[in-house]
Amino acid sequence: MGTQSIIDTKQWRSLKQHQQEIAQIPLRALFEQDPHRQEKFSAQAAGIYLDYSKNPITDATLTLLEDLATSADLKQRTNALFNGEAVNLSENRPALHTALRCRKKAPLYVNNVNITAEIHGALQQMRDFVESIQSGQWQGYNGKAIRHIVNIGIGGSYLGPMAVAEALRPYWTNDVQCHFIANIDGSEFTEIVKNLQPDNTLFIIASKSFGTQETLKNAEAAKAWYLQNGGAEDQVHKHFVAVSSNQSKAQQFGISEANIFPMWDWVGGRYSLWSPIGLPLALTIGMDNFDRLLDGAHEMDTHFIEAPIKQNLPALMALLQVWQINFFGAQSQAIIPYDHCLRGLPAHLQQLEMESNGKRVSQTGAPIQHDTGAIIWGGAGSNGQHAYHQLFHQGTHTVPVDFIVPLQSHNPINDHHDILFANCLSQSRVMMHGKTLPEAEAELRASGHTEQQIKQLAPQKVIPGNRPNNILLTEKMTPQVIGALVALYEHKVFCQSVIWNINPFDQWGVELGKQIGDDIGDALANPQASTKQFDSSTQGLIKKYRNAKK
Ligand code: F6P
Repeated sequence: MGTQSIIDTKQWRSLKQHQQEIAQIPLRALFEQDPHRQEKFSAQAAGIYLDYSKNPITDATLTLLEDLATSADLKQRTNALFNGEAVNLSENRPALHTALRCRKKAPLYVNNVNITAEIHGALQQMRDFVESIQSGQWQGYNGKAIRHIVNIGIGGSYLGPMAVAEALRPYWTNDVQCHFIANIDGSEFTEIVKNLQPDNTLFIIASKSFGTQETLKNAEAAKAWYLQNGGAEDQVHKHFVAVSSNQSKAQQFGISEANIFPMWDWVGGRYSLWSPIGLPLALTIGMDNFDRLLDGAHEMDTHFIEAPIKQNLPALMALLQVWQINFFGAQSQAIIPYDHCLRGLPAHLQQLEMESNGKRVSQTGAPIQHDTGAIIWGGAGSNGQHAYHQLFHQGTHTVPVDFIVPLQSHNPINDHHDILFANCLSQSRVMMHGKTLPEAEAELRASGHTEQQIKQLAPQKVIPGNRPNNILLTEKMTPQVIGALVALYEHKVFCQSVIWNINPFDQWGVELGKQIGDDIGDALANPQASTKQFDSSTQGLIKKYRNAKK
């Protein structure tokens, strides 16, 4: 990994030059010039078909982007990732989320420990637990089967399992319902437990560090709720399990050793849903479907390692986003799944992308001289069309969009899926094709408007088009496809980090907020404590809070 900034490379300079040329050619024209454009600029793997033809690219662009990836040693860096090298430089750790879904038994050593054996042991522990809960063999303090799982966790210990559990709602065995408590705000805890009973509820305390304030506070509240609502003190072990890399802290909290599922330092939180952090998911869809999810991710891993860059879905999506961010100035990226069950995916991808690539110094600590991670947001279509798609079509910001849509619905009703699918394609086309002023005028003329009205209204109806978007098409959102989809984004994020030479696996930026939060929390808890160390805004607001508490 060189210390030279990527912007000093001839590949980067060539792309800068090329962008000047490409920017002059409307996407419409690119389609008019080549009736086979869609076939040329699409690729597929692991059940996902990527149509990236509505991007400002030609064959020459792809070659220049491929050269950029090659200049960043993408293939070598990918091998290092999969081989367990310490790719997380600042924490001197590997990032082996790929090992979690590798079905081979071949040993892989981290710090002289064969993690393959640990992973398979953890999967068996999960399977035994899931089957005992689902079968009713595991009973609560008064002999009832557990039917409600409450996952207490935040960030990567919440968003991935939540998003995928929602995505696979059609696969829930319905023996068990899962709920998620993440926020320290008492309203979430209250809302979740108000309809639950302790005797058929089990809490998973999910925390890699077992040191996250929100999670520990909510775990304490859960234990109090359990005891105050009839739970037997000596039966807590039947209603509390933990997932953590810090076994001793979990035991100190009162979780029995047999009820602790492992997590490891060589898995990042936002990459951990494939580990026992995915327990709430496995408890709802069953362990066989969880295995299918792992298989799908593994299939994408294999594609990512083997496919040449121009056919490589993660590399292509990364390079296209680099093209938009660093050469067209895009600041954000929208994830728009046309699938109600995938409505939680944007929230997971926000953490995956923004906590990984929201970085400003390189792996070696040098200030970055170009943009890095985009602002990730999104929501389910078709809802967004009635909320924010206006900005996609006529705003001053260009927001690249990933549309994600299945050919088949799990819940077909009449022609609803036809309409959903048509809406997805229409939004993608309108972003690309737009509507010119002459077209708007002709339309108004044809509908009988006067020339005066046309003169006034037509400019309001112009849609510039020329706005990039990808379509990710799947047959159906099965566990295997969802596994491949999430792994696709994990590797896309990694590819971008390689090109930008940043560390996607640490998150030092969140530490200061936690520390200051503790300091202010102390000041709120102790009305006599001095607040002079804070700015006047913080001091004034602390004072208001203290007065309100009186
Ligand atoms: O503070 C950020 C973070 O560390 C995330 O990276 C992580 O997913 C989340 O907090 C929860 O951490 P833990 O699983 O250790 O409670």
